[in-house]
Amino acid sequence: MRIDIITIFPDFFSGPFSHSILKRAQENNFVEIHIHDLRPYSTNKQKSVDDYQFGGGSGMVMNIQPIDDCISKLKSERDYDEIIYLTPDSQTLKQETCNKLSSAKNLVLLCGHYKGIDQRIREKLITMEISIGDYVLTGGELAAAVLTDSIVRLIPGAISDETSALSDSFQDNLLSHPIYTRPSEYKGWKVPEVLLSGNPKFIDKWREEKALERTKNIRPDLLK
Ligand code: ADE
Repeated sequence: MRIDIITIFPDFFSGPFSHSILKRAQENNFVEIHIHDLRPYSTNKQKSVDDYQFGGGSGMVMNIQPIDDCISKLKSERDYDEIIYLTPDSQTLKQETCNKLSSAKNLVLLCGHYKGIDQRIREKLITMEISIGDYVLTGGELAAAVLTDSIVRLIPGAISDETSALSDSFQDNLLSHPIYTRPSEYKGWKVPEVLLSGNPKFIDKWREEKALERTKNIRPDLLK
Protein backbone atom coordinates (compact mmCIF):
# COMPACT_ATOMS: atom_id res chain seq x y z
CA MET A 1 0.00 0.00 0.00
CA ARG A 2 1.04 3.58 -0.68
CA ILE A 3 -0.30 6.53 1.33
CA ASP A 4 0.32 10.11 0.17
CA ILE A 5 -0.35 12.75 2.80
CA ILE A 6 -0.81 16.40 1.79
CA THR A 7 -0.14 18.86 4.61
CA ILE A 8 1.16 22.33 5.45
CA PHE A 9 3.07 20.79 8.40
CA PRO A 10 5.21 18.01 6.85
CA ASP A 11 7.43 17.68 9.95
CA PHE A 12 4.43 16.71 12.04
CA PHE A 13 4.54 13.11 10.81
CA SER A 14 8.14 12.25 11.67
CA GLY A 15 7.01 11.32 15.22
CA PRO A 16 3.87 9.20 14.78
CA PHE A 17 5.24 7.12 11.91
CA SER A 18 8.65 6.27 13.33
CA HIS A 19 7.66 3.89 16.11
CA SER A 20 6.42 0.37 16.63
CA ILE A 21 4.08 -1.18 14.05
CA LEU A 22 4.05 1.79 11.67
CA LYS A 23 7.83 1.94 11.61
CA ARG A 24 8.17 -1.82 11.03
CA ALA A 25 5.43 -1.88 8.39
CA GLN A 26 7.42 0.69 6.39
CA GLU A 27 10.76 -1.08 6.91
CA ASN A 28 9.21 -4.38 5.77
CA ASN A 29 7.60 -2.72 2.71
CA PHE A 30 3.99 -3.33 3.71
CA VAL A 31 3.38 0.41 3.35
CA GLU A 32 5.09 3.43 1.78
CA ILE A 33 4.13 6.75 3.33
CA HIS A 34 4.94 9.91 1.35
CA ILE A 35 4.48 13.35 2.88
CA HIS A 36 3.85 16.31 0.56
CA ASP A 37 4.36 19.87 1.72
CA LEU A 38 1.50 21.87 0.18
CA ARG A 39 3.13 25.30 0.32
CA PRO A 40 5.65 24.86 -2.55
CA TYR A 41 2.67 24.08 -4.83
CA SER A 42 1.31 27.60 -4.36
CA THR A 43 1.90 29.71 -7.47
CA ASN A 44 1.67 33.07 -5.73
CA LYS A 45 4.75 35.01 -4.61
CA GLN A 46 4.10 34.67 -0.89
CA LYS A 47 3.47 30.93 -1.25
CA SER A 48 0.24 31.42 0.67
CA VAL A 49 -2.25 28.57 0.74
CA ASP A 50 -5.31 30.33 2.24
CA ASP A 51 -7.50 33.37 1.75
CA TYR A 52 -10.52 35.21 3.16
CA GLN A 53 -13.97 33.68 2.96
CA PHE A 54 -16.32 34.95 0.26
CA GLY A 55 -19.37 36.45 1.94
CA GLY A 56 -17.41 37.39 5.05
CA GLY A 57 -16.99 35.56 8.33
CA SER A 58 -14.10 34.66 10.58
CA GLY A 59 -11.42 32.17 9.60
CA MET A 60 -9.39 31.61 6.46
CA VAL A 61 -10.16 29.06 3.75
CA MET A 62 -7.58 26.89 2.00
CA ASN A 63 -7.23 27.78 -1.71
CA ILE A 64 -8.06 25.47 -4.58
CA GLN A 65 -4.91 25.96 -6.70
CA PRO A 66 -2.15 24.41 -4.54
CA ILE A 67 -4.36 21.46 -3.56
CA ASP A 68 -5.53 20.88 -7.15
CA ASP A 69 -1.96 20.99 -8.46
CA CYS A 70 -0.67 18.61 -5.79
CA ILE A 71 -3.52 16.11 -6.25
CA SER A 72 -3.29 16.36 -10.07
CA LYS A 73 0.44 15.61 -9.97
CA LEU A 74 -0.17 12.54 -7.77
CA LYS A 75 -3.04 11.35 -9.99
CA SER A 76 -0.85 11.69 -13.10
CA GLU A 77 1.61 9.25 -11.52
CA ARG A 78 -0.76 6.49 -10.39
CA ASP A 79 -4.43 5.61 -9.81
CA TYR A 80 -5.85 6.17 -6.35
CA ASP A 81 -8.52 4.11 -4.62
CA GLU A 82 -9.65 7.10 -2.57
CA ILE A 83 -8.74 10.77 -2.14
CA ILE A 84 -9.67 11.38 1.47
CA TYR A 85 -10.24 14.73 3.17
CA LEU A 86 -9.96 14.70 6.98
CA THR A 87 -12.59 17.03 8.37
CA PRO A 88 -14.84 17.11 11.44
CA ASP A 89 -17.94 17.88 9.34
CA SER A 90 -18.22 14.42 7.82
CA GLN A 91 -18.90 10.74 8.63
CA THR A 92 -17.21 9.45 11.78
CA LEU A 93 -14.52 6.81 11.22
CA LYS A 94 -15.61 3.26 12.08
CA GLN A 95 -13.68 -0.02 12.15
CA GLU A 96 -15.60 -1.18 9.06
CA THR A 97 -14.13 1.70 7.02
CA CYS A 98 -10.62 0.92 8.34
CA ASN A 99 -11.08 -2.71 7.23
CA LYS A 100 -12.15 -1.62 3.75
CA LEU A 101 -9.34 0.91 3.35
CA SER A 102 -6.73 -1.61 4.50
CA SER A 103 -7.09 -3.45 1.17
CA ALA A 104 -6.57 -0.28 -0.92
CA LYS A 105 -3.45 0.05 -3.07
CA ASN A 106 -3.04 3.84 -3.14
CA LEU A 107 -4.62 6.47 -0.90
CA VAL A 108 -4.32 10.26 -0.67
CA LEU A 109 -5.01 11.93 2.68
CA LEU A 110 -5.58 15.69 2.62
CA CYS A 111 -5.15 17.54 5.92
CA GLY A 112 -7.27 20.65 6.32
CA HIS A 113 -6.46 23.79 8.31
CA TYR A 114 -8.02 27.11 9.32
CA LYS A 115 -11.78 27.05 8.57
CA GLY A 116 -11.33 24.26 6.03
CA ILE A 117 -10.94 23.93 2.27
CA ASP A 118 -12.80 25.55 -0.63
CA GLN A 119 -16.02 23.59 -1.18
CA ARG A 120 -15.18 23.07 -4.87
CA ILE A 121 -12.25 20.83 -3.89
CA ARG A 122 -14.65 18.69 -1.87
CA GLU A 123 -17.04 18.44 -4.78
CA LYS A 124 -14.57 17.95 -7.64
CA LEU A 125 -11.50 16.19 -6.23
CA ILE A 126 -12.30 14.47 -2.94
CA THR A 127 -13.81 10.97 -3.10
CA MET A 128 -14.26 10.33 0.64
CA GLU A 129 -14.45 12.47 3.80
CA ILE A 130 -13.61 11.22 7.27
CA SER A 131 -13.92 12.66 10.77
CA ILE A 132 -12.18 10.92 13.65
CA GLY A 133 -14.73 12.11 16.20
CA ASP A 134 -17.22 14.79 17.18
CA TYR A 135 -14.67 17.39 18.28
CA VAL A 136 -12.53 19.90 16.42
CA LEU A 137 -8.75 19.56 16.20
CA THR A 138 -6.41 22.34 15.12
CA GLY A 139 -5.83 20.57 11.82
CA GLY A 140 -6.24 17.33 9.93
CA GLU A 141 -2.71 16.03 10.67
CA LEU A 142 -3.59 14.19 13.88
CA ALA A 143 -6.65 12.74 12.15
CA ALA A 144 -4.50 11.59 9.19
CA ALA A 145 -2.06 9.93 11.61
CA VAL A 146 -4.94 8.18 13.39
CA LEU A 147 -6.44 7.00 10.11
CA THR A 148 -3.06 5.77 8.81
CA ASP A 149 -2.38 3.84 12.02
CA SER A 150 -5.83 2.24 12.03
CA ILE A 151 -5.42 1.09 8.41
CA VAL A 152 -1.78 -0.01 8.37
CA ARG A 153 -2.13 -2.31 11.39
CA LEU A 154 -4.76 -4.26 9.41
CA ILE A 155 -2.56 -4.95 6.37
CA PRO A 156 -1.92 -8.72 6.44
CA GLY A 157 1.55 -9.29 7.86
CA ALA A 158 1.94 -5.79 9.34
CA ILE A 159 1.39 -7.13 12.83
CA SER A 160 2.95 -10.46 13.67
CA ASP A 161 -0.18 -11.96 15.28
CA GLU A 162 -2.90 -11.32 12.71
CA THR A 163 -5.60 -12.91 14.79
CA SER A 164 -4.95 -10.19 17.33
CA ALA A 165 -6.25 -7.51 14.92
CA LEU A 166 -9.33 -9.61 14.21
CA SER A 167 -10.19 -9.85 17.89
CA ASP A 168 -9.94 -6.07 18.48
CA SER A 169 -12.80 -4.12 19.92
CA PHE A 170 -15.36 -3.19 17.21
CA GLN A 171 -14.43 -6.01 14.79
CA ASP A 172 -17.78 -7.67 15.57
CA ASN A 173 -19.50 -4.55 16.91
CA LEU A 174 -18.52 -5.54 20.44
CA LEU A 175 -15.99 -4.02 22.82
CA SER A 176 -13.21 -6.43 23.67
CA HIS A 177 -13.38 -8.70 26.73
CA PRO A 178 -11.18 -7.96 29.79
CA ILE A 179 -7.57 -9.18 29.52
CA TYR A 180 -5.02 -10.22 32.16
CA THR A 181 -1.39 -11.30 32.40
CA ARG A 182 0.97 -12.62 35.10
CA PRO A 183 0.97 -12.67 38.05
CA SER A 184 -2.33 -14.48 38.57
CA GLU A 185 -2.63 -12.79 41.95
CA TYR A 186 -1.27 -9.36 42.92
CA LYS A 187 -1.94 -7.76 46.33
CA GLY A 188 -4.86 -10.18 46.61
CA TRP A 189 -6.32 -9.01 43.22
CA LYS A 190 -7.13 -12.22 41.42
CA VAL A 191 -7.44 -13.16 37.74
CA PRO A 192 -10.83 -14.82 37.01
CA GLU A 193 -10.48 -18.54 37.72
CA VAL A 194 -11.84 -19.61 34.31
CA LEU A 195 -8.86 -18.06 32.49
CA LEU A 196 -6.52 -20.33 34.44
CA SER A 197 -8.66 -23.43 33.77
CA GLY A 198 -6.95 -24.34 30.47
CA ASN A 199 -10.39 -25.16 29.01
CA PRO A 200 -10.71 -23.22 25.70
CA LYS A 201 -14.48 -23.77 25.49
CA PHE A 202 -15.12 -22.24 28.91
CA ILE A 203 -12.65 -19.44 28.23
CA ASP A 204 -14.27 -18.50 24.88
CA LYS A 205 -17.74 -18.55 26.44
CA TRP A 206 -16.59 -16.34 29.36
CA ARG A 207 -14.93 -13.89 26.94
CA GLU A 208 -18.05 -13.65 24.78
CA GLU A 209 -20.22 -13.00 27.83
CA LYS A 210 -17.86 -10.34 29.18
CA ALA A 211 -17.57 -8.61 25.79
CA LEU A 212 -21.37 -8.45 25.58
CA GLU A 213 -21.72 -7.24 29.18
CA ARG A 214 -19.10 -4.51 28.64
CA THR A 215 -20.72 -3.38 25.40
CA LYS A 216 -24.18 -3.27 27.02
CA ASN A 217 -22.84 -1.12 29.85
CA ILE A 218 -20.48 1.21 28.00
CA ARG A 219 -21.64 1.35 24.35
CA PRO A 220 -25.22 0.04 24.08
CA ASP A 221 -25.52 1.93 20.77
CA LEU A 222 -23.22 -0.69 19.15
CA LEU A 223 -25.79 -3.42 19.79
CA LYS A 224 -28.63 -1.67 17.93
N1 ADE B 1 -9.78 18.23 11.52
C1 ADE B 1 -10.13 18.91 12.62
N2 ADE B 1 -10.86 18.16 13.44
C2 ADE B 1 -11.00 16.95 12.86
C3 ADE B 1 -11.67 15.75 13.19
N3 ADE B 1 -12.37 15.63 14.33
N4 ADE B 1 -11.60 14.72 12.34
C4 ADE B 1 -10.93 14.83 11.18
N5 ADE B 1 -10.27 15.94 10.80
C5 ADE B 1 -10.31 16.99 11.63
